[in-house]
Amino acid sequence: VLHFKAEIKENIPVSKNHYLLTFTPLAKTPVPLPGQFYMIGIGNSCDPLLKRPFSILTKSDDSIRILYRIKGKGTTLMKEMKTGTVINVMGPLGNSYPIPKKKHTPLIIAGGIGIASVFYLAEKLKGKAIVLYGARGKHELLMLDELRGLVKELHISTDDGSYGKKGTIIDLLNEFHVNDKHLIYACGPKGMIRAVSEFALEKGLKGYISLEENMACGIGACMGCAVKTLKGYKRVCKEGPVFNIKDILW
Ligand SMILES: Cc1cc2nc3c(=O)[nH]c(=O)nc-3n(C[C@H](O)[C@H](O)[C@H](O)COP(=O)(O)OP(=O)(O)OC[C@H]3O[C@@H](n4cnc5c(N)ncnc54)[C@H](O)[C@@H]3O)c2cc1C
Ligand code: FES
Repeated sequence: VLHFKAEIKENIPVSKNHYLLTFTPLAKTPVPLPGQFYMIGIGNSCDPLLKRPFSILTKSDDSIRILYRIKGKGTTLMKEMKTGTVINVMGPLGNSYPIPKKKHTPLIIAGGIGIASVFYLAEKLKGKAIVLYGARGKHELLMLDELRGLVKELHISTDDGSYGKKGTIIDLLNEFHVNDKHLIYACGPKGMIRAVSEFALEKGLKGYISLEENMACGIGACMGCAVKTLKGYKRVCKEGPVFNIKDILW
């Protein structure tokens, strides 16, 4: 397992409920793959109960960024972490999004904070990805400017119609002309992922989804994150978080 210490460079709000955290590892760490995540120790506390999983958003030569939404106790404490603070990080953990074959067009579907998991994938796909991105409203659409520069096409929906198409991302998907050349990559709230999976199965499309489960250990030891699949129970932190779209038993 890869534990390392990292120094916070920046921890800034990017919307009312979202923050962007940039940290510099203080040791050499492996280059993460798209879809992988880190367990981040909140504050400089050694309390193992205060580690939470976050996707890699981007990686540069000397720093790693994550994008997070304020949810409960951990993330509320996290937003108070100051520049210069040294944190404990574990990772990169989990599997990654398989890279598409030449014949496929990657179709990335991101709901809400799910964008954090697929952003690095979009970057690695170097302008080949088509992205469908849905959020509740305009102010919950994150990283838009950076995202635009990374993708082939960007289609946006908001539930309240304050930006892009009014409706859910499933409405957007239903209107999009999918074909069997599209390879789906989806991340977002459970209900959305399930709807995307059902859509893909119905249309005979291939693809991958990234799941979110509460994690205690993050390294495959506690079984706390197990989900039911066609191949038995699998741990989201170890065999996931990325699964084949046809494998999850909902
Ligand atoms: C692979 C993966 C990648 C993710 N990537 C991102 C991302 O990039 N951005 C993002 O915003 N979110 C991401 N999430 C979700 C994020 O991890 C949760 O929103 C975050 O953990 C919420 O923590 P919280 O303490 O604020 O919320 P809480 O609701 O207080 O806690 C969340 C859960 O953590 C567990 N927990 C809380 N306290 C304890 C404790 N004392 N001991 C053990 N467990 C406890 C509980 O199961 C609790 O339900 C990801 C999740 C996964 C699994
Ligand atoms: S979080 Fe412990 S096994 Fe996945």
